[in-house]
Amino acid sequence: MTSIPDKAVARVEKLRKELHEHDYRYYVLADPSISDAEYDKLMRELQALEARYPALQSPDSPTQRVGGAPTKTFATVTHSVPMLSLANSYSEEEIREFDRRVRSILGKEAPRYVAELKFDGVAISLKYRDGVFVQGATRGDGMQGDDITTNLKTIRSLPLRLRKPDARFRDIEVRGEAFMHKEDFAAMNRQREIAGEKLFINPRNSTAGTLKLQDSRVVATRPIKMFSYQLIAPNAKLESHSKNVEILRSLGLPVSKQWRLCRTIDEVIEFWKEWEAKRDSLPFDIDGTVIKVDSRAHQEKLGSIAKSPRWAIAFKFASRKAETVLNDIILQVGRVGTITPVADLQPVFVGGTTVSRASLYNMDYINDLGLCVGDTVIVEKGGDVIPKITGIIAEKRPKGATPYKMSSKCPVCGTPIFKPEGEVNVYCENSECPAQVKGRIEHFAMRGAMDIEGLGEAVVEQLVGLGWVKNCADLYSLHDHRDEMIELERWGKKSTSNLLEAIEQSKTRPYHRVLYALGIRHVGQGVAQLLVEHFTSIDQLLAATEEDLQSVSGIGPQIAESVVTFFKEKHNKNIVQRLRAAELLLEAQTSKKKGKLTGLTFVLTGTLASYTREQAKLLIEENGGKVASGVSKNVQYVLAGEDAGSKLDKAKKLKLAVVDEDEFKKMIS
Ligand code: IVH
Repeated sequence: MTSIPDKAVARVEKLRKELHEHDYRYYVLADPSISDAEYDKLMRELQALEARYPALQSPDSPTQRVGGAPTKTFATVTHSVPMLSLANSYSEEEIREFDRRVRSILGKEAPRYVAELKFDGVAISLKYRDGVFVQGATRGDGMQGDDITTNLKTIRSLPLRLRKPDARFRDIEVRGEAFMHKEDFAAMNRQREIAGEKLFINPRNSTAGTLKLQDSRVVATRPIKMFSYQLIAPNAKLESHSKNVEILRSLGLPVSKQWRLCRTIDEVIEFWKEWEAKRDSLPFDIDGTVIKVDSRAHQEKLGSIAKSPRWAIAFKFASRKAETVLNDIILQVGRVGTITPVADLQPVFVGGTTVSRASLYNMDYINDLGLCVGDTVIVEKGGDVIPKITGIIAEKRPKGATPYKMSSKCPVCGTPIFKPEGEVNVYCENSECPAQVKGRIEHFAMRGAMDIEGLGEAVVEQLVGLGWVKNCADLYSLHDHRDEMIELERWGKKSTSNLLEAIEQSKTRPYHRVLYALGIRHVGQGVAQLLVEHFTSIDQLLAATEEDLQSVSGIGPQIAESVVTFFKEKHNKNIVQRLRAAELLLEAQTSKKKGKLTGLTFVLTGTLASYTREQAKLLIEENGGKVASGVSKNVQYVLAGEDAGSKLDKAKKLKLAVVDEDEFKKMIS
């Protein structure tokens, strides 16, 4: 056996301590003190030492966050104290009734309540022994759950060691909720859509599905977060829930900031009303508030009935779900030929708007739901406004209804539909399919691409229908049809001139926007920027091989293949030549004149009154500045709008300059 030098032992311990501290600062406090690169360096050093001296490996090492070997089944864990659920209430009256019940049991002593958020995630239980995380479990049936320790270890905000616990808090159990942020969830689904993988229905389902995976290495790639809301500490005398929350925080566990100590039931109702109105501004989903009697003594006096405590109750928000009938499933053909099924619904009022369409994504989604046309379905609106079908009411299925089967032909041009192996998406492979032609031109003219005002869906439809525009290059010879256009219904001299002028104007768009506008599969705005930085003219891109492209960090095999395939096609080469002849910018401008924001990087947060995010980004870039997605030391300014979120807090901690919209306007004026 290799003997381990004392120096290595000490170094491993020091690295672990530091990495635990950095995890805590980054994931719990959102206040990092080192860069990602510095963190990675420390982590790599620790990994190398643990690999060299396997005897030094330890289950609470930060290296364990990457997951371990897959398991076949989960062991069963019997909960030391049953994991109760909460009774639900939906109205002020029910809450007042809860208050009356509590007061009648407590007699003379008036209760104080803690009102907190009801996180829409998955309940988890975490056991710490001697301050170290040793076992994590699901709720299961409340008495017994699954041992998902290895999966939970991958949650970065979950401390693998408690922070300086005194003797009372070394052996504890913590209960809480695992969930995903809405943005992380959406980004993950976008990635899955691109890769042709199955989509998740909502953050909660996705969290539940992820925690039940047998391969914790996959869990480690999913953006799960947690909050703790209950402390079980057999060796301590616990006073109240509000004190427990503080104890949990001091032990390094993530706790929500959004809670309030209330002396009256009116204050509790006020808290609920406030959050009902503000729920969409949170980065995660909540489905109500939870009310807990604060004092532990009072809690004990109140006790539990059946599966719920009498000292707490959920105060849920009005549902954003509704039932309606699925009239039909329509197939939409996108600009790259992707065929997306869309639900045509009996219009129904949900969460403030009337819904008559919902995306069904792909056949797997439809099959998982087991949809038949004519079914009564549940339509749900999450924080992200786009309605989804999340279930069917089997009892209401009309007699003789059969599961939906997708046509084998493109609904627009009749070409047989193609399904690549291993993908859930299906495609129309006819690049001349009118739906694709229209989609490509709409994309070309879109904001963020060539930004051609007045060239929306209806106009594109008309121009393509007339046969004047078959591809984006045709737009630049549309002036040949000027006289005929003026004669067209709804056009006339002024509108024709305006459109032709807008097309002319678009010739000044920078190269990276032209590249994005071409609509190459997998080349979004970010990838287009990246490509332009390394291949400064379109001729360089035309000549690039897959290997050349992949040598750029951030360009993977999928993008590389897509770019090469695009530029290999004769038809596309021809379009490039015609765009060149029309004098579009097909190379990066090196002699870029210095803008007012040259050398400055901005982060955008909150809602701006005069610009969309996209417009603000373009303005910054047109003035020579850059826009980053997250706050770091490389950022100079944070442009903060209404309801700015955690980025603003982080910016303040890093002492970055924060400007509002008016100050920003001055900077560029
Ligand atoms: S306390 C004995 N607090 O709601 C009380 N639960 O049916 C234990 N939940 O299973 C729960 N947010 O998954 C509590 N702030 C919160 C919560 C919360 C969400 C979930 C939890 C529980 C379910 C209640």
